[in-house]
Amino acid sequence: MAKEKLTIPQLLAMKQQGRKITMLTAYDYGQAQLVEEAGVDMILVGDSLGMTMLGLPSTVPVTMAEMLHHTKAVVRGAPNTFVIADLPFLSYQVSREEAIRNAGLLVKEGGADAVKLEGGGAMVAVAQAVVQAGIPVQGHLGLTPQTATQLGGYRVQGKEAAQAQAIVQDAKALEEAGCFSLVLECVPMGLAAEITRALSIPVIGIGAGPDCDGQVLVYHDVLGLFRRFVPRFVKQYAQLREPIINAFQTYIQEVREGRFPDEAHSFK
Ligand code: KIV
Repeated sequence: MAKEKLTIPQLLAMKQQGRKITMLTAYDYGQAQLVEEAGVDMILVGDSLGMTMLGLPSTVPVTMAEMLHHTKAVVRGAPNTFVIADLPFLSYQVSREEAIRNAGLLVKEGGADAVKLEGGGAMVAVAQAVVQAGIPVQGHLGLTPQTATQLGGYRVQGKEAAQAQAIVQDAKALEEAGCFSLVLECVPMGLAAEITRALSIPVIGIGAGPDCDGQVLVYHDVLGLFRRFVPRFVKQYAQLREPIINAFQTYIQEVREGRFPDEAHSFK
C-alpha cells in the first residue's frame, strides 16, 4: 500500500510527541523511488546536487534551472513523500519579489511541497515574504554552505557565545517569520538542543547532535558514494562504490570474452 504524504500539521505533531523526523536528500527519479520506498518522512532536493550530481566545487554555482530539473525528477519518483527544494544561491537574496518568483517556480513547475533557504538576519524578511505568498519555507542556520566563504569555510558554527546567541535569535526570528521547520547544520550539540527546546517548529539537524527533532543526511554520504570528502558528522550506512564498480567490471569482462549476451538474453 502506498504511504501517505506527510502534512505540515503532522510534522508539528511529531515534534510535540517526541517522534524523530527523518529527511534524506535525493536528486533524481531513481534515487527518489528508493528513498520513498525506504519510508523516509521528507526528501530534500538539496543544492548539494551541485557537488554530488554535477561535480561542481561547491553549491554556489547551482542555478534555478538545475534545481527545477532535479526537483521535477524527484517529485515524479516520490509522489507520496513531502519534498522540499533548495532555493539556490542568489535566487532569493536580490529581492523579495525574486525570492517569491523563484520559490513559486520550484512549487508550481517543480512540484515541490516547500522550499528551503539559508541564513538569518536579512533573510528572515525574505522567508516571511515567501511564506506570506503561500509557500512553506524551511530555514537553514549554522553552517550555511552558500555563504561558507563569509563564515571562514566549512566549519562548526556557534562555538563562541556571541555567535551562538546570534544563531538562537535567528532561529526564533525564522519561526516568527512563519517557517514550518529549521535545518541546523554543524553546530555544537548543546546549542542545537537549546534551539530545539526553544522552538515549537521541528529542528532537523545535520552535524548538530542527537537532540534535534529529526536528522538529515545526503544520499551519497549514507551510501558511501561520495569520496571527495566525508565530514565527521556523516555516517556511511553502506559502501556501494565497490559493488557498483564490480558489477560494471564483470559486464565489461563478459562482453570482451563473448559471454554476454548469452542465449537467455537473446531473441530467437
Ligand atoms: O543541500 C543540502 O543537501 C542541504 C543539507 C545538507 C541540509 O542543505
